[in-house]
Amino acid sequence: MQHLLATHPRRRLFQLSPPATKPSREGVFFLPSIRIGLAVLALGGLGAGSLALAQEPPAPSPERSRELIRMVRQDCGSCHGLTLRGGLGSPLLPETLRDKPPDGLKHTILLGRPGTAMPPWKTFLNEAEADWIVAQLLRGFPEESK
Ligand code: HEC
Repeated sequence: MQHLLATHPRRRLFQLSPPATKPSREGVFFLPSIRIGLAVLALGGLGAGSLALAQEPPAPSPERSRELIRMVRQDCGSCHGLTLRGGLGSPLLPETLRDKPPDGLKHTILLGRPGTAMPPWKTFLNEAEADWIVAQLLRGFPEESK
């Protein structure tokens, strides 16, 4: 009896102590892991951001941009509607183009669509300019500046 009483409390202490220290230890590791998680999320966000930036086609010179805007409004507009809401050609609005692959749209602009009224524009536009036009169409094409 004496023996049991003497060892029992110590045993309990011993058995209790690991679970008592373990959560606090985990807590110490848990916090940094949250911070690492946040850092990874932040980096991921930055990565996605710079990826979006990298995909943004380079803007042509201000002069050329004005020419291209005029061309899309006037020449493309003659078929696609002056407000690009559609006419003989389909609407070229962000909501109608959003789900279509930008590369496909670029190729349609450069090569036209055989068998339809959509003519090729590759003699008037280079690939980067067609990319830029697609990017502008997707965000809502700019108005001509007068
Ligand atoms: C002579 C008329 C005409 C002109 C000018 C014209 N298009 Fe088109 N375009 C069309 C037609 C018609 C279609 C639809 C083809 C089809 O039925 O698939 C089309 C399709 C397109 C598409 C694909 C749209 C989609 O939803 O897939 C894009 C992008 C486009 N045109 C851009 C342009 C741009 C930019 C210009 C000027 C540089 C231009 N078009 C000039 C007639 C024209």
